[in-house]
Amino acid sequence: MLVIVKESGREMSAEAAEIFANRLRKKPNLVVGFATGSTPVELYKLLIRMHKQEGLDFSKVTTFNLDEYVGLPPSHQASYARFMRKNLFEHLNIPEHSIHLPDGMADDVDAYCDWYEGEIQKAGGIDLQILGIGANGHIAFNEPGSSLGSRTRIKTLAGTTLRDNARFFKSKKDLPKYAITMGVGTIMDAKEILLLASGTGKADALRAAVEGPITVQCPASIVQLHRKVFIVLDRDAASKLAGSYPDSWHSSLLLER
Ligand code: PGA
Repeated sequence: MLVIVKESGREMSAEAAEIFANRLRKKPNLVVGFATGSTPVELYKLLIRMHKQEGLDFSKVTTFNLDEYVGLPPSHQASYARFMRKNLFEHLNIPEHSIHLPDGMADDVDAYCDWYEGEIQKAGGIDLQILGIGANGHIAFNEPGSSLGSRTRIKTLAGTTLRDNARFFKSKKDLPKYAITMGVGTIMDAKEILLLASGTGKADALRAAVEGPITVQCPASIVQLHRKVFIVLDRDAASKLAGSYPDSWHSSLLLER
């Protein structure tokens, strides 16, 4: 686990973009797990810029998104499918057939989740998983109490998550109560993980994830067991960590491997 602490959210995103681009240049057919939320938006802007200005090529990339609200069609303004298209996919050259977004409208959710897992396997597994973290320590929609070995499935959203995400919906009653999410085990199978967090609102979750015990109460804490995880933070998100962490140069060592 490599924790890198940057001065600002902007620098956090720039570091993450460098790590991402390094991986994509090394493996043009990278299989990427993408995340939604506010945290990766700046990273996605930088990837778009690298694509347009530096020719960073996404034509052989395959993508799998972490999660989607149950009951929201991809056209819904708060759906994660729409978020990804608007903030990233519309601006890159990833072939449509290589983009996988969980279907919140699937009739048979269990069968769909099995199929999604199978597609990840067929693609050879996820090479690089982008992750945010919830203020409650969730990763994707694996809320506190989620089994650490879980696979893609339907989950009930935690009250804290509903509160955090209410801002994206017109009224409280429109807020979905369930989501399809990759499991903690699915995420842990990724060959590398790039977890990002910024802001004081994430400081407690980060302390629990990075320096606390591995526990279902903080699903993100499982990444302590992953062999290749980059955790890139801004100062505020790192403000409650007791350990000392580098501000970047160590990442180049890990990137060589
Ligand atoms: P955020 O969400 O990036 O909007 O803070 C992260 C998460 O809940 O995983």
